[in-house]
Amino acid sequence: MIRLAIAGALGRTGRRVTELALGDARFRVVAALTSPHDRQIGEVVHGGDSSVTVTDSIPADGDVLIDFSLPEGTMAWLDWCQIRGTPMIIGVTGHSASQRERMDRAAAKIAVLHASNFSLGIAVLRGILGGLTKRLGEAYDVEIVETHHRRKADAPSGTALTLRDEIARARGRAGEETTVYGREGRVGERPVGQIGVHAVRMGDVVGRHEVHFSGPGETITFTHEAHSRDAFASGALRAAAWILGKPAGSYSLRDIVEAEP
Ligand SMILES: NC(=O)c1ccc[n+]([C@@H]2O[C@H](COP(=O)([O-])OP(=O)(O)OC[C@H]3O[C@@H](n4cnc5c(N)ncnc54)[C@H](OP(=O)(O)O)[C@@H]3O)[C@@H](O)[C@H]2O)c1
Repeated sequence: MIRLAIAGALGRTGRRVTELALGDARFRVVAALTSPHDRQIGEVVHGGDSSVTVTDSIPADGDVLIDFSLPEGTMAWLDWCQIRGTPMIIGVTGHSASQRERMDRAAAKIAVLHASNFSLGIAVLRGILGGLTKRLGEAYDVEIVETHHRRKADAPSGTALTLRDEIARARGRAGEETTVYGREGRVGERPVGQIGVHAVRMGDVVGRHEVHFSGPGETITFTHEAHSRDAFASGALRAAAWILGKPAGSYSLRDIVEAEP
């Protein structure tokens, strides 16, 4: 049985990870980590009368830590995982450049898998975007539109940026240098090769991403819509089972999708 620590266990996504893990025979939840709460996990998370206390303190054991907290939480638990040699599955998005560097450095010591989106659908979409981009060429304008619930802290979503990077890489460009975030005022003609990224915040939308390729006389649109957080939570649990025993390094969801088709 895999001993699982979950950071952000009372958040919108971490709560679902915790509920699914409590009902999954592969896992034993040994730590539910959040800002200070002095309660038993069964009181606040549906799924059984586990004796785990929701805490902000360092758990005694744990084979893998899944992090759906916030960027500062990732940094705190990253330190803990390095000290213990514990592999880390990171679902948090919105890290700064220096925080991302710290995650890269940690991967020299422990196995780290960071994914901006744990759903299988987005992983497969990423896999086909590069080839499609090359075949269509720069004559096709790319616009990415993401929609999330009104409480999402970061914009644009990490997933939108991941999809953007996939397309930019296929064009041999760096993502940031080709991107315009929203448009306003007299912007003039659209430069060839530009990628537009737009963030919509409304209601309780779990997550919707649209990628448009528009060229002479036609538009191709891919839409991915998460109906619930289960797509992310089950993907993160799959990653936790997969990463056990892997050597130190930086892994991506693609490593799993390719290893376990
Ligand atoms: N990769 C994916 O597939 C995916 C999917 C969905 C969301 N996300 C990302 O996951 C993150 C969380 O999203 P969410 O919607 O679940 O947010 P959320 O509801 O705000 O949950 C975040 C949780 O983290 C807790 N927290 C804050 N600091 C912490 C720390 N130092 N240690 C442990 N827990 C801490 C918060 O607890 P308190 O409220 O008590 O401070 C809160 O319960 C975001 O970055 C989001 O973009 C990723």
